[in-house]
Amino acid sequence: MIKQAFAVAFGLGFAAAALAAGGTAQVDGARIINADSEPGNWLTTARSYSEQRFSPLKRINDGNVAQLGLAWTYRLDVDRGVEATPVVVDGVMYTTGAYSIVYALDAASGALKWKFDPLVPRDTDRDGCCDVGNRGVAVWKGRVYVAAFDGRLFALDAASGRKVWVRDTVIDHKRSYTITGAPRIVKGRVIIGNGGAEFGVRGYVTAYDAASGKQAWRIFLVPGDPSKPPENKMMAMAKSTWSGSYWSTGGGGGGTAWDSMAYDPDLDLLYIGTGNGSSWNRKVRSDGHGDNLFLSSILAVKPETGAYVWHYQTTPGDTWDYTATQSIILAELTINGKSRKVLMQAPKNSFFYVLDRATGELLSAQPYLPTTWASGVDMSTGRPQENAGADWTTGPKLVVPGPLGAHNWQPMSYSPLTGLVYIPAQENAGLYSPANDSTWQHRGVWNIGTQPLSLPEDVKQLQGVISSFKGHLLAWDPVLQKARWTVDYPNIWNGGTLATAGNLVFQGTADGRVVAYAADTGSKLWESPANTGVMAGPMSYEVSGEQYVTFMAGWGGAFPLALGGIAQNAKVMSEARVITFKLGGSATLPPPEHKLAPLPPPPALTADAATVDRGRNLFNGICGVCHGLNAIGGGVLPDLRYLTSEKHLLFNGIVAGAYARKGMPSFSDLLKPDDVDAVHQYLIQRAHDLDAQMKTESTASAH
Ligand code: HEC
Repeated sequence: MIKQAFAVAFGLGFAAAALAAGGTAQVDGARIINADSEPGNWLTTARSYSEQRFSPLKRINDGNVAQLGLAWTYRLDVDRGVEATPVVVDGVMYTTGAYSIVYALDAASGALKWKFDPLVPRDTDRDGCCDVGNRGVAVWKGRVYVAAFDGRLFALDAASGRKVWVRDTVIDHKRSYTITGAPRIVKGRVIIGNGGAEFGVRGYVTAYDAASGKQAWRIFLVPGDPSKPPENKMMAMAKSTWSGSYWSTGGGGGGTAWDSMAYDPDLDLLYIGTGNGSSWNRKVRSDGHGDNLFLSSILAVKPETGAYVWHYQTTPGDTWDYTATQSIILAELTINGKSRKVLMQAPKNSFFYVLDRATGELLSAQPYLPTTWASGVDMSTGRPQENAGADWTTGPKLVVPGPLGAHNWQPMSYSPLTGLVYIPAQENAGLYSPANDSTWQHRGVWNIGTQPLSLPEDVKQLQGVISSFKGHLLAWDPVLQKARWTVDYPNIWNGGTLATAGNLVFQGTADGRVVAYAADTGSKLWESPANTGVMAGPMSYEVSGEQYVTFMAGWGGAFPLALGGIAQNAKVMSEARVITFKLGGSATLPPPEHKLAPLPPPPALTADAATVDRGRNLFNGICGVCHGLNAIGGGVLPDLRYLTSEKHLLFNGIVAGAYARKGMPSFSDLLKPDDVDAVHQYLIQRAHDLDAQMKTESTASAH
């Protein structure tokens, strides 16, 4: 009785306090800076401004994690790539799914409070390199901020989900600008970059006043029109490192900031990671010369003005799509007996960087996975020692890592208790072949200066490629610059990581599981099925004294779309869902919903070999990024070897835009009717190949 009265009084008191503070989701800078004093909340996409993705909660720990069970699941609307880490404030979870749809859920029960669909036009799919994912929201003073795939930034009322304001962040709709990243909010400014460097754009970052939506500042990340004076000192510095036709036919420079940021309130510095060049090929972009600032760089700027403070370029003159947009983590490390305020990054290029975050000074850089593009980083100049054989602009080269990177956007985490960084790393190679005469065409057309990428169609050769793609969870010691322990996965593209004070590391996997490891030793302590590949970074929070761990599940993104089918152990279809666990949870995950239908008998092939070859090139150059190179489907979009007879009849209409509302844009601008026929014939050939392969396999297994 007394207990109950206390609970009621406490509950009322709590509600009153929340109301006195002005209602729902009253997050501000002071609260984020002091995030450790309220470990039950997860206030920003990476919990705090230092972006460590470390939860101080330890009710769930290495001693009891085996009792973790499902608390609730919530089915998302679109079964495409799910990349968000939810934010949880005072018992409410704010998260996003594909096409930037926002969900507010009761964090204890998973019940929907409200949903906001920004209605991203589905025919904008062609503007993205890597699926229509979204990496989450920012919450600030009673509002939820989301940046939609088509570049609109929304402020929503946190209690109702109603739109308060919307701003178009895109400066040029004739180019493929998209947004997949989560906004960050510092000193009342909502800060957001964009993507599009595969298509030909000039990257920039904009800050908006959180209350009014008024633009506070904008900085470009690469130079603009060379016939005009540079906008500021930063652009003047950049301009001298570029040459050639980057502006006219080269693609616009690129350098887009599509994911990582972090903030140090003591130094008052905002850190931004920038991306690859437009085009990838430096010969096309900058006549083969120059560092091309600020591609593949970490920039430190003032959050109130965007004023430049320092930069460190991880891959000068990037030619391999080695973005530096991967997680940026701030921490204090003891190096040579001295406590240092550092910034850490494991960008795509395979080197782990530790920088002094006040000055940008390089403190150390070592490869976290084998690489062939550079032999090391010169500590006196801070520059990579590039291997001559890595330059593919003169002829095709196999380079490690390939464009998927040794670490992609899947966030890494850091535990101040173990001193280790948990990197979702991956081994992969890229065969880069130059197309040095390629030029920027128009919106929605890839512009990377390479020949169409492709996979071997011979089953044995394909097996060889598959076996060279390996995933690893690395527990990286950033002081010693070496792995303390490693978990090996048969596939790449595993999920982001969460470290907790319960001596745990959580990670989802490409083959459809969610797993907990001991943070100090790496021993596996728990796992559970997720029905689908899991990529997003997990997070943890507390409601009414109960700790929860949430994974956003849903297969998609660059690798699953273009190459996912080669991960033979990842025979999972996308099934987008929020999956939340607690100790003793007893909910059950429904069985997987999507099953591949049997292969329909393919129609007769009517074209000659030359036409099929032409179809293959067109398919790999235009369709393969979404439907799987060489038509090896990836478990996200329809596997085009499985077309029904009805779909075969509709084929030309579909390619001309009949399914635009499903996200299958028209390609009439790129393909003439006989091109469409060639692509169609190639797909029929691939259906016959698969049919033959299945028959061989079933005969083999019958013996
Ligand atoms: C930007 C991504 C993207 C690209 C590039 C793309 N598609 Fe699609 N395609 C889609 C989406 C999304 C769907 C619809 C998925 C659904 O039904 O939910 C689709 C559906 C289809 C379908 C219908 C399949 C079925 O079983 O319903 C066909 C056929 C198709 N695409 C052919 C092509 C061809 C041929 C190309 C290249 C010329 C191509 N697509 C390029 C995204 C893409």
